[in-house]
Amino acid sequence: MEPVIVSDPRAIQAGLRHPDLAQALYDEGRVIMDGVILTLHGPAHRRRRLLEFGVFRKDFFHWYEREVFPRTLAETMAPDRAAGRSELVDLGYRVTMNLTADFAGIDRPERSAEETAALRRMVAVFSEGATLVHSTRPREEVRAEVRAALAEFVPRFLEPAIARRRALIAAGTPEEDQPRDVLTVILRDGDPAEFTPELIAREIAFYLQAGAHSTANSTVHAFHDIWCWMRDHPADAARLRDDPVFFQRAVHESLRLHPASPVAWRRATRPVTLEGVGPLAEGSLVEFRLAEANRDPALFGADADRFNPHRPLPPGVLPFGHSFGIGVHACLGRDLDGGVVPRGPVDPATHQYGTVTLFLRALFALGAMPDPDDPPRPARHTARPNWGHYPIIFEEARAWS
Ligand code: HEM
Repeated sequence: MEPVIVSDPRAIQAGLRHPDLAQALYDEGRVIMDGVILTLHGPAHRRRRLLEFGVFRKDFFHWYEREVFPRTLAETMAPDRAAGRSELVDLGYRVTMNLTADFAGIDRPERSAEETAALRRMVAVFSEGATLVHSTRPREEVRAEVRAALAEFVPRFLEPAIARRRALIAAGTPEEDQPRDVLTVILRDGDPAEFTPELIAREIAFYLQAGAHSTANSTVHAFHDIWCWMRDHPADAARLRDDPVFFQRAVHESLRLHPASPVAWRRATRPVTLEGVGPLAEGSLVEFRLAEANRDPALFGADADRFNPHRPLPPGVLPFGHSFGIGVHACLGRDLDGGVVPRGPVDPATHQYGTVTLFLRALFALGAMPDPDDPPRPARHTARPNWGHYPIIFEEARAWS
């Protein structure tokens, strides 16, 4: 069925909030997405979101951003730093995969490069399975790879993580001393009849890939946009270094231009009339064009297609547009990755910037720049406009002192 296309920002807002439009983008990717939070609808979705939301509270993000993330970042970047170069797509995945593993509840007991590489490989397969609808590869081949990756992931990573958490819960460990992650919450408070071992595996794999894939891609886009801006606007290069709130604004501008999910799909569960669209029969498929709405000149100005961290925004419009979704399925990781959107002046010392800003500032602080001898290349095997290979070098002369 041909989808009804919606690109008007107001109609998108109404549509993504409509109670009779259910998630439809992941039907092709059921092998990894069946029954996970993003694909649920109605009361089942509300229950799951309420259960898992507890992990994603602001106070926890603040603590995570200050205490845990800088350590994880330094640890993950150490080999690249020593080598004086890196490949940003891979580094982005390694950093963000550790981040989402913390939230999903996957322990990495070895903390070795091999362990990180194995998990990164599995997560890349899960994410290709989830976004199968946009894959340019034979679908059955991708599904077989997902099944194989799950068969490796469950005994190596998931079962030990479950065993450790079950033991803590059984021993009566106070809640505040238990790990604060999605897996713990599912094992402690979830309905065992709902959470079969297969569903737990898909839910946790979903968290790993949803967070890692979108954050890694967004980070590479933002690196590129900010690097080009600094190259072409030397005065702003100093401001981006000295003013982390302005830097965060630049990250949000890049997130607007390159939403990790360029479209959202929904299916009408009954006949509905959608604001700005009209009547839709039961079963109609709707494609909400988030990327297009994010470049709407009526909201973002005549140069909406261009990166400009000084762009004025109309009141009530988020600087990253619809990139984190909206409505019942709005991204639970938004403040973790994007930080808090400043409403007026903020205290730079206590402001929550989000992990993408922190990661990129750490890179530029080390003098990161694109490798002049090995230009970046777009990703193959997907119709999504992402970078596939982005070599960077660390130039001491450019490092922020
Ligand atoms: C730059 C990074 C990210 C972007 C651009 C992003 C974007 C999105 C979008 C657009 C949706 C809604 C999809 C729809 O309505 O169909 C979504 C949902 C979701 N995201 Fe993110 N995301 C990011 C990072 C993360 C991270 C780091 C986590 C977790 C640690 C996360 C967890 C989730 C969850 C759980 C949902 C589903 C919520 C629900 O269905 O109720 N995301 N994300």
